[in-house]
Amino acid sequence: MKQRTRSAAETQALASTFARQLRKGDIVALYGDLGSGKTQFAKGLCAFFGVREHVTSPTFVLLNRYSGKDAAGKELLIFHFDLYRIKSLSEIYDLGYEEFFSQDGICMIEWGEHLKDLLPLQRYDVRISFGGVEEERIIETEKYDSSGRLLTTTMQYTQ
Ligand SMILES: Nc1ncnc2c1ncn2[C@@H]1O[C@H](COP(=O)(O)OP(=O)(O)O)[C@@H](O)[C@H]1O
Ligand SMILES: [Mg+2]
Repeated sequence: MKQRTRSAAETQALASTFARQLRKGDIVALYGDLGSGKTQFAKGLCAFFGVREHVTSPTFVLLNRYSGKDAAGKELLIFHFDLYRIKSLSEIYDLGYEEFFSQDGICMIEWGEHLKDLLPLQRYDVRISFGGVEEERIIETEKYDSSGRLLTTTMQYTQ
């Protein structure tokens, strides 16, 4: 589903709404040019889970981890990758990425396209692009099953 935001705060709010459907083990790949708002989206997602740590792009460390809470108040770990600077897949192997994807947390991956075939098929995609005017962004979210089939648009759910 495609939505439009007109400020960073609106993007965060949209991400918080999006986050309601997420469960442990889910993977969210974030795509978009530098400055499009991937990290703002990550912030909003973390806010929904009550993360208190400062959410920033982990550009230099590649990975940040935050501690949040699920609906039942149990701890929920959130792993936040930024693969912008990754030059080869070997760096991703060095990071031990599989360990995080298979863990009981939620993984957000900025520049997920750098993972190529290592990016799990079962995931959410969030594509952010610049709108026609300053501060406007177009945000498209999609959900795929374990065979990579596109499922229903992700904002339409009841809870
Ligand atoms: N509608 C919007 N959504 C998200 N960010 C916006 C929006 N309008 C302006 N911005 C600004 O754009 C920048 C996005 O930065 P960031 O989220 O770090 O981008 P990325 O992680 O994609 O490189 C921030 O400075 C933010 O304040
Ligand atoms: Mg970023």
